[in-house]
Amino acid sequence: MNGGSRIGRVLIIAGSDSGGGAGIQADIKAVTMLGAYAATAVTAITVQNTLGVTGVHPIPLDIIEAQGRAVLDDIGADAIKTGMLGDAGTVAVAARLIDSARNSMGRGVPVVIDPVMIAKGGASLLDPHAIAAVRAELLPRATLLTPNAPEAEALTGLPATSTDDLRRCGYELLEAGAKAVLMKGGHVPGDRLVDLLITRDGETAFEDVRIDTRHTHGTGCTLASACAAGLAQGLDLTAAVARAWDYVHRAIEAAPGLGKGHGPLDHGWMLRSR
Ligand SMILES: Nc1ncnc2c1ncn2[C@@H]1O[C@H](COP(=O)(O)OP(=O)(O)OP(=O)(O)O)[C@@H](O)[C@H]1O
Ligand SMILES: [Mg+2]
Repeated sequence: MNGGSRIGRVLIIAGSDSGGGAGIQADIKAVTMLGAYAATAVTAITVQNTLGVTGVHPIPLDIIEAQGRAVLDDIGADAIKTGMLGDAGTVAVAARLIDSARNSMGRGVPVVIDPVMIAKGGASLLDPHAIAAVRAELLPRATLLTPNAPEAEALTGLPATSTDDLRRCGYELLEAGAKAVLMKGGHVPGDRLVDLLITRDGETAFEDVRIDTRHTHGTGCTLASACAAGLAQGLDLTAAVARAWDYVHRAIEAAPGLGKGHGPLDHGWMLRSR
């Protein structure tokens, strides 16, 4: 159990999505449904539904940091997941919180960095000037980095329009300090969808047919949080990613069809499939 608690405590540093499909809301649902414990440091409140983001209210940096410290000092964490950070100041806060997190054996905890930049509807969720900070401060702290194709391009300066491109970006991101990368293929065109888990020891492909649906709001947040839940519970990296991938795909298949735009997943699909 990682020397941590049996339940697997995840500290999530990310933004709120009022629509409930992505962000902190998706993170809490995914972590909870996979049997782990979710605590949060909210970085921003977004005004959002399935049609897009219409407002962003950043939380002051000292309050973001204080939320994280309040969680770490009392409840503790067996893994940390970051999502929407917004700007370079918040990236620095996340790095400090990561550095101060210790499990009950006194060791650092696994960290899943979802380098969120743009919402599904197109709204910017990271100041472009902060991309260099993510690269410099978060990649070296990442147990697992989970970029989508546009984020892979922004972080590496390389193209990411095919699976081979994603692989090249992935190796570059390992060079830049990430211990492992899960290169997400959702934005790469094609009937089949391929995500690549790459570590210094090799590569595992997660591949299936693309589900024909508009209900993919929050897939990325959900996947990264599900991975963090697994790591917090002591699963090895490949097992954590495999369980997370299956969880997300079933949640897409079970999407309840809410909203007029990119609708949410069914994070609770397993409650209904018994
Ligand atoms: N239509 C689909 N069918 C099956 N799997 C999908 C589909 N769309 C996305 N996924 C899966 O969802 C996960 C997230 O991938 P994606 O590349 O969409 O991330 P993202 O862009 O970060 O998502 P988000 O917009 O929520 O931030 C990946 O595992 C991907 O394979
Ligand atoms: Mg994403």
